[in-house]
This record gives sequence, C-alpha cells and structure tokens, in this order.
Amino acid sequence: MRNFIIVGHKATTTPNFSLEDIPGTSGRLDILCRAVTAAFVLSHGIRKDVCVHLILLGGEIPKTIRLVGETLRHLNPDERTTAALLKKALALPAAAEWAMSTSGIFVRTGGLAEVLADLKDAKLIYLREDGADIRSLDAGGLSGDAAFILGDHTGMTPEEESLIEQAGARVVSLGSTSLHADHCVVLLNWLLDTNVLMQG
Ligand SMILES: C[S@@+](CC[C@H](N)C(=O)[O-])C[C@H]1O[C@@H](n2cnc3c(N)ncnc32)[C@H](O)[C@@H]1O
Repeated sequence: MRNFIIVGHKATTTPNFSLEDIPGTSGRLDILCRAVTAAFVLSHGIRKDVCVHLILLGGEIPKTIRLVGETLRHLNPDERTTAALLKKALALPAAAEWAMSTSGIFVRTGGLAEVLADLKDAKLIYLREDGADIRSLDAGGLSGDAAFILGDHTGMTPEEESLIEQAGARVVSLGSTSLHADHCVVLLNWLLDTNVLMQG
C-alpha cells in the first residue's frame, strides 16, 4: 500500500467554505485537493493501492480525512469535485472514531500523531528539500507498505518535525528545488511505478 500524508496547517475543519473560491475560503484546501488528484487519478481510473491521509489543522480541533483507493468512488480529476467530497466529510459530527462519509472517504478528529501511530508498521519517508537524495534509497526501502509525509505551502513546524523524527521516518529529497506537494506525489508514484530505484 502507498500512503500519502499531507499536512494542511490552515486547512478548514468545517464545511463552511465556498466551492466558488476554494483557496480563499478554505485555508488552502485546494493544495490538499490537488494532492488527492495526484495520488489517485489515472488517465482511466483510480489507483486502488493508494491511501491518502489529509491532516486538517485550521480549526479548533484537528481532523483527519482518509481516502482509500480500494473503495473510493465519485472522485473526478477536477479540484471542485474533490473539495465537494471533503466538504461532505467535514459536515459529519466530529468524533475520535472513523466515520464514513461517501464510499472510501472517512473522517475523525485527531492529527499527525494519530496517523503516525496508525502507520507505525509502514516505512515512513518524510519529504523535505534538504533530505537525502531519493535515488540513494534502495527499492527494498520502499517495498511493502510505505508512507510519504509532505507539508503544504508552509512546510512543517518544528513540533511536527520532531514527531516525524521520533516515529523513525527517513528524510528524503526530490532535489533542492522546492516543488508543489502534488507534483512531489506525481513523482513518487512514478518512481514506485517504474521501479527505477536501486535494487538493494
Ligand atoms: C510547497 S512545499 C513547501 C515549501 C517550503 N518548504 C516552505 O517551507 O514553505 C510543500 C511540501 O512538498 C515537499 N517538497 C517540496 N519540494 C520538495 C523536494 N524538492 N524534495 C522533497 N520534498 C519536497 C515538502 O514535504 C514540502 O513541505
């Protein structure tokens, strides 16, 4: 399973945003919507072996939305449709247990610490511009369950960095040029699809 964790520091935890102006009214949920598209959407279909965890920190209490490729329905390539699906999930009552919104989309309260605990058995890879070159990872380092952790336009806070470090993540780079999170996701999917990493 490929897991992508994207942290939205200002991303709203309520459904009170406008689909006519997603960036301006949702705390940049548009960044997370694009990451969802990059993670799942193929030319003709949805990747089944992908799970995306969106950490929304722009409200009173953090929320996490999980999208599971195996059962995901109604996802289209456009940002507005994705935002509408997230809006529905955010309209559910907040609780610590996962609640299903639409097929393959779940929501609960809690943030990065809880998701890292859920994924404690996965190989954790934290994407950061100054990390080790991803090409130095051997393919075995990414076989099995892998979880890639990415920030938003504000990067990651020192507290989050220390959580990620304590969870045992490797810090890996796609080059020194700072890219958009969704573009990183496309590159990661390509790297895993094409098996170009060194065979360890
Ligand atoms: C737009 S970038 C963040 C920009 C910048 N780090 C900052 O502090 O504002 C969003 C996320 O994509 C990932 N990222 C962007 N470029 C990267 C690169 N060249 N290598 C690895 N990860 C990258 C990181 O996880 C980053 O937090």
